[in-house]
Amino acid sequence: MFVKGDRADRAQAVSLRREAAVAPHLPAAAPRLLWQLEAGGWLLTGWEAAAARHADYGAPHNLFLTRRAMQRVQDVLVPPEATVLSAVEQWGPYADEGAGELFDGPVLLHTVWAPGDVLLAGRQVHVVDWAWPTRGAGWIALYLSALRLMEAGHTAASAVEWALKVPSWRDGDATAIRAFGAAVARERQRIATRAAVRGSCMRPSRPPSYASTWRFTLERRDAGGSAIGTCQ
Ligand SMILES: Nc1ncnc2c1ncn2[C@@H]1O[C@H](COP(=O)(O)OP(=O)(O)O)[C@@H](O)[C@H]1O
Ligand SMILES: [Mg+2]
Repeated sequence: MFVKGDRADRAQAVSLRREAAVAPHLPAAAPRLLWQLEAGGWLLTGWEAAAARHADYGAPHNLFLTRRAMQRVQDVLVPPEATVLSAVEQWGPYADEGAGELFDGPVLLHTVWAPGDVLLAGRQVHVVDWAWPTRGAGWIALYLSALRLMEAGHTAASAVEWALKVPSWRDGDATAIRAFGAAVARERQRIATRAAVRGSCMRPSRPPSYASTWRFTLERRDAGGSAIGTCQ
């Protein structure tokens, strides 16, 4: 069993509550929630433990397994009874006027895809950390995970090549994806600026520049340029 907990009165406990609330709706790749309790000022959640290691986004076979898991996870839609934030609410405020509606969709999205959230045991993939579940278009998860690949050292071109094999991305509306790129770049700029103001240790320049580079790649692709190998 794997136990996650936090002081019940800390702001971060909210994400633990969100994760527990969405647990009944999660795809098969996610460990099951076994129990949750609040006692002595603590909030604890007990999950099936995955005996696995973190994905390495630099390793081709890990990338293959991650993408296959992502594709399966994308089959899960948000049931009507689940209350999760929508992508329109989350990224709409950063989008160009009226463009936020383009992020709408029925898929239950994992919006983090950090390598530590993708646990590999042989060919089996466990996807943990559903603290930011979001309802939206399937390609959003691809976009966000491609940014993770770039953080792991991939070029934008190689991240595009990886993402293009997933139908939701390949067939996604290019206008919507471009609008999302603009929104994410703004969101990350805002987060980085706030972090810099607070004097936090987050590297302020990196997240916005990844988002901008990726957006640049998409624009090349829309303009008829090759998405592969020419944009960095
Ligand atoms: N069910 C689980 N089984 C095994 N290890 C887990 C499980 N859930 C989380 N972990 C481990 O704990 C780490 C942190 O958990 P996570 O849910 O990603 O929270 P956060 O990233 O917010 O700290 C993961 O990267 C993983 O190594
Ligand atoms: Mg995590």
